[in-house]
Amino acid sequence: MEVLEIHRYPQLMDQCCDLINMEWPRSKTARLRRLEMSCDSFPTCLVLVCSNEVLGHSKLSSLPSLPLGCLIESVVVHPEHRGKGLGKFLMTKSEDHARRQGMETLYLYTKDKQGFYSKIGYTECEPVQIYGQHVLGQNSKNVPLNETDAKGN
Ligand code: ACO
Repeated sequence: MEVLEIHRYPQLMDQCCDLINMEWPRSKTARLRRLEMSCDSFPTCLVLVCSNEVLGHSKLSSLPSLPLGCLIESVVVHPEHRGKGLGKFLMTKSEDHARRQGMETLYLYTKDKQGFYSKIGYTECEPVQIYGQHVLGQNSKNVPLNETDAKGN
């Protein structure tokens, strides 16, 4: 089980697209275009992979209004593999990635998965501004840098 940056594994984009579309249907072209924007800094799309099968996805983006803040969105685990700890694993790896990029706080918006995010340490916070004037009610979690990360291990 590993979490990979999708831009390094373009062969996984098609599968990833289908997984995201199972949850939030949208045109495949639009979906692929978004995945193709993934890069080393931000935005970055991460995929949870087991035996070449894409089982999860998350997307990390920078927040212009909060230089040390990172937005995490489109978190999804394959419906047949939920409830086995994969979502938690994917979030931990996503947080590690954000931390390596110098981020200190992760922000996210959820309509109905508050229970999951509370379990993994997110708490409600004041709304933050994203994309110009658009403001979302948010959950956040601090991801303090530790010595291991600082060494890049
Ligand atoms: N309510 C309360 N607790 C939950 C929920 C929930 N809906 N989902 C999981 N948990 C708990 C689990 O019981 C587990 O607790 P434990 O550690 O005490 O055993 C813990 O959270 C971790 O659960 P996982 O098994 O790792 O979660 P899973 O692999 O099922 O992934 C996820 C959770 C990603 C929300 C999955 O259900 C999913 O893909 N849902 C559909 C898409 C979705 O709504 N994504 C979130 C959108 S919001 C965003 O992207 C910021």
